[in-house]
Amino acid sequence: MNNWFNTARLGMFIHWGHSSQKGCELSWPLVGGVFSLPFCQDVPVDEYHSTANTFNPKQYNPQEWAYLAKSLGMKYAILTAKHHDGFALFHTQESDFSIVSTPYKQDIVREFVDAMRSVGLRVGLYFSLSDWHHPDYPAFTEADKPYRFDQLPQPTPQQWERYLQFLFNQIQELLTNYGQIDIIWFDGSWERTPEQWQVQELAKMIRKLQPNILINDRLPNCGDFATPEQFIPSHPPAHLWETCLTINESWGYNANDQCFKSSRQLIHTLCEVAGKGGNLLLNVSPMGNGQIPPQQLERLQDIADWMSSHADSILDTRPGLEPWQFYGPSTRKGDHIYLHLLMKPYEQISVRGIPIKQVKSVSVLADGTPLTFTSHCAIIDSLLNPNPLGELKIDVPESVINPYATVICIDMDS
Ligand code: GLC
Repeated sequence: MNNWFNTARLGMFIHWGHSSQKGCELSWPLVGGVFSLPFCQDVPVDEYHSTANTFNPKQYNPQEWAYLAKSLGMKYAILTAKHHDGFALFHTQESDFSIVSTPYKQDIVREFVDAMRSVGLRVGLYFSLSDWHHPDYPAFTEADKPYRFDQLPQPTPQQWERYLQFLFNQIQELLTNYGQIDIIWFDGSWERTPEQWQVQELAKMIRKLQPNILINDRLPNCGDFATPEQFIPSHPPAHLWETCLTINESWGYNANDQCFKSSRQLIHTLCEVAGKGGNLLLNVSPMGNGQIPPQQLERLQDIADWMSSHADSILDTRPGLEPWQFYGPSTRKGDHIYLHLLMKPYEQISVRGIPIKQVKSVSVLADGTPLTFTSHCAIIDSLLNPNPLGELKIDVPESVINPYATVICIDMDS
């Protein structure tokens, strides 16, 4: 069960909300920003919430997003059904603060889920446990600024009781009304204790409604996978994991933030994540009209182009060699070992501690160009051991270097 996630390797994260009209980050502007988001604006609370009334993303075309995700080889997509600002992109009976009350009216989550499924992508929904708009949470006010993790407005027991009911009901709606949901991606739990969130009861309800669902680790103590944010873990975690990463420095569309990673940096991150056996959840930030900004599209296009000849070394792979065996991320699938060159080699590269007699051929993954190689092992091993471990030296001429990342495939005799 759930092993699709184990080798999925690439997914699309979509941070979108009514604040995207303003070109300001999602939710955080209303609490005055946060240190981890360098371009986050400070917007007065009422002004922030006011754009909920005008949200009308006429150019929202989730089918296009689905094709885009597919073109990169992505296996899943996760949309912010509700972020910390409390605004629901789905039709909810629990409050008026949702897409129903906007000029757009249609259920954005339903349209998203249908489009992703139509191309065979798995579907995930991001849901913030914290809600800075709900009166019983209680709502964050201008007087509560600046945001302090340890000094947040607290509810009375009655308020909390009501809020929990609301929270459970909204999650129930999402997990009942949209068919199979593959991932529920929680966030915002830091503002209350696991006991206050009633995590065990919540997880129980979720698994009853969606027996095959994966829950991320931001529902404390209940998660199926870890969610390192904006970094690659130094050592591969023992369990399922997924790095979530922005293309610039913001999650939601933020017109101030022009600090984009290069396509090459993004591809290198993907190679490293795959080499450590994780998934990369790459974020896009649609604008208020529903379109993905051109700087993000350009980079996604570059990744798609690179993936068109390199997907084999990324998707459905397992981690490859140990770091001491090869200086770079490597993966494997079947009889193939894939070496990702994230630095340009000087003439040759070395691979150590592999069964050299089993090496059938070495080639460039992108176009199959054969590469010459030599192998070597201790003399005593070559005399006495029918299948010795040794080292491989592979010639890598300048002519085969890919501008983003060169991948070399070692074909092994099984
Ligand atoms: C953080 C932020 C949030 C973002 C999330 C994605 O926890 O609060 O804005 O949605 O990370 O991982």
